Amino acid sequence: MKKQVLLWLLSGVLFLNACQNNTIHNETTSMTFTISEKPFGQINGDTITQYTITNPQGMQVSIINYGGTVTNLLVPGRDHELGDVVLGFDSLSGYLQKANPYFGCLVGRYGNRIAKGKFILDGQAYQLTLNDHGNTLHGGVQGLDKVIWQASKPAGDSSLKLTYTSKDGDQGFPGNLVIEVVYTLSSDNALQIAYSATTDKATPVNLTNHCYFNLSAGKQNTILDHEVMLQAEKFTAVDSLLIPTGQLPDVKGTPMDFTTPKKIGAELAAVKGGYDHNWVLKRKGKDLEKIATAYDASSGRFMEVFTTEPGLQFYTGNFLDGTLKGKQQQKYQQHAGFCMETQHFPDAPNQPSFPNTIVKPGESYRSLTYYRFSVK
Ligand code: GLA
Repeated sequence: MKKQVLLWLLSGVLFLNACQNNTIHNETTSMTFTISEKPFGQINGDTITQYTITNPQGMQVSIINYGGTVTNLLVPGRDHELGDVVLGFDSLSGYLQKANPYFGCLVGRYGNRIAKGKFILDGQAYQLTLNDHGNTLHGGVQGLDKVIWQASKPAGDSSLKLTYTSKDGDQGFPGNLVIEVVYTLSSDNALQIAYSATTDKATPVNLTNHCYFNLSAGKQNTILDHEVMLQAEKFTAVDSLLIPTGQLPDVKGTPMDFTTPKKIGAELAAVKGGYDHNWVLKRKGKDLEKIATAYDASSGRFMEVFTTEPGLQFYTGNFLDGTLKGKQQQKYQQHAGFCMETQHFPDAPNQPSFPNTIVKPGESYRSLTYYRFSVK
């Protein structure tokens, strides 16, 4: 009898395995990771290349070496159809236009704002380029989103490595900063972004990525019905120009409370201008931790965000206004996408109580973020 039960269990396992193998062998998937590349236009005679990584499940990410920008992110929905869950453009000219609101790009040297573009470090005053109402946003006028990165393909076909050296004085920042960003697709449908940097002079560093997600893959014009959870009990209060005041109010009982999943649109109208704030993540330590989720019930797509960073800028595409022509002539209206920018806090170089962002010679800046996708 025992033997029969064992045989029955074994056949069940073999059957399940066969089913799984069937799904892996279907037409839209390959058994291995692959990376391909194709030209994506030119800037002053330099060819820009688009790299596409595909994982064994068929999930795909496309990245261009201009701005290290994620142009496409194809993720299966409940219907098993792959859908592109990031906003962007079909061609390089879209990304080069002045009105490009940082779609999908890498952001640095300092993601988010530095008040008046000024800070004092080791007794010396520095002035950065100003590009946001007299403040510095996302690294200044010519941030890392607007430069050409050096690309290479590490072994394994699941990663793209991008490197860039920002020279001493670039945008006013001190030190030669050698930056490396590795985008990796995992077999469990996560896009991992690993950032590292070294410098030869003390300098503030805060690197992030600026993907605008719409998990419905274009089926919903806005993300207001997406349900979001942010593991944060406090946020950095800001003034009218989004510069932190230094206060960290509690989210409890306010529209900023996403400690349990809530539709983005539920209380957005009560927040002047919409959500564009840094949440203070409630973390156990400094290791990689899950700190946010987003769910689109219409497609079933569920995104989990893991990071080593202490903060998250949750931005609901408030400045999109329908004037940009995006992929396939889509007009991205207000709230067409949301960003979850893992980061240190805005203006930390001028806020001694915020976690430190100064990297010194001999130290290594490191930061890791995962966006993992599944279906519910
Ligand atoms: C960030 C900022 C926003 C806005 C966008 C780009 O997320 O916090 O205020 O500037 O970038 O449009």
